[in-house]
Amino acid sequence: AQTYAAGMMGQRAAVPFRADELEARAAAIMSAEGFGYLRSAGMETTARANREALDAARLVPRMARDVGMRDLGIELFGRRLASPLLLAPIGVQELAHAEGDLATARAAASRGVPAIFSNQASVDMETCAAAMGDAPRWFQLYWTRSEALSESLVRRAEACGCEAIVVTLDTTMLGWRPVDLGHGFLPFLSGQGLAQYTGDPVFRAMLDKPPEEDVLAAAQLFSRIYSDPSLDWGRLKRIRDWTRLPVVLKGIQHPADARRAAEEGWDGIVVSDHGGRQVDGAVGSAAQLAACVEAVAGRIRVLFDSGIRGGADVAKALALGADAVLLGRPYIWGLAVDGEAGVAAVIDNVLGELDLTMGLIGCSSVAELGRDYLA
Ligand code: FNR
Repeated sequence: AQTYAAGMMGQRAAVPFRADELEARAAAIMSAEGFGYLRSAGMETTARANREALDAARLVPRMARDVGMRDLGIELFGRRLASPLLLAPIGVQELAHAEGDLATARAAASRGVPAIFSNQASVDMETCAAAMGDAPRWFQLYWTRSEALSESLVRRAEACGCEAIVVTLDTTMLGWRPVDLGHGFLPFLSGQGLAQYTGDPVFRAMLDKPPEEDVLAAAQLFSRIYSDPSLDWGRLKRIRDWTRLPVVLKGIQHPADARRAAEEGWDGIVVSDHGGRQVDGAVGSAAQLAACVEAVAGRIRVLFDSGIRGGADVAKALALGADAVLLGRPYIWGLAVDGEAGVAAVIDNVLGELDLTMGLIGCSSVAELGRDYLA
């Protein structure tokens, strides 16, 4: 209503409401290399498959069900959250805005939406956490070739109040990204996106010189230890010695992996294909979601991301059985367009559309939102 009223006075919202317009606005602001880094792997087949899978899920509205009061709240790992939305871990946010992750952390805190700090952040987790007060945050880990460093990152996350650890399994190496290859651009090699490392005591001990003296030495060391492709299910269990926080495995696509995660007692999974940035030609994640939900059979929590562009998409993912949804690129586009306020506006718009969609399909709570609402 506020937006329409402002429109009557000739004022337009700074952040476009349509995801395609928002993306175009961000593209016009960011450098070609920076915006190129937001794109997907290969011919972007999987990025399209993500959209096709979400578009193929169709909601069936129900009428006259008293939706005067709607509750978007959920409970996740013992914490009551105002909505089923979290911000996906996204690296190198300085490419979108000078304040990067700090602007995102502030916006997330202002909305009570958990931020998941990326392992490849532009601002270290302690700085972001300090700006968030008691607001919920998680940490995302890339399992490095130095287990001492992985352990240090996890312990730091716990110390700065992160409430869960997300271990991303789908990026044991970077996908084939022709746009970045064409630009000859990998941000980490010039020292961008290394903020979690450069202040880390274990990482610093591995360097000959302090990183502020030689950012390239830090980048070189990083590229030697980044993400361990020999990680397997057995070794993954070591994380339980480092933390008692819930551990969520991100990048699950196959129902057999989802079942294994449940059988081994991991706390949750994120059904995700990294927004189509890893395996070009992989199945769209939304097409795998229902089978993964079925495979875990309620034993662990199932989160979803890849392709979410608005509140109706969130409703579909919840109807397919997700407990919560991670928002990816749209908030980065908001960050590029208007910094902290841009991220907050994108969150508001996604939640506004979710609330409206739930009301219009006759559903008054997230718990109620299931397969019954899908064609
Ligand atoms: C990512 N993603 C990601 N995931 C992760 O676990 N750690 C990371 O550091 C990053 N970094 C990152 C950078 C950029 C530029 C993008 C676009 C994505 C993946 C992210 O968490 C999420 O899975 C996808 O963004 C979801 O897809 P959509 O919604 O962006 O299509």
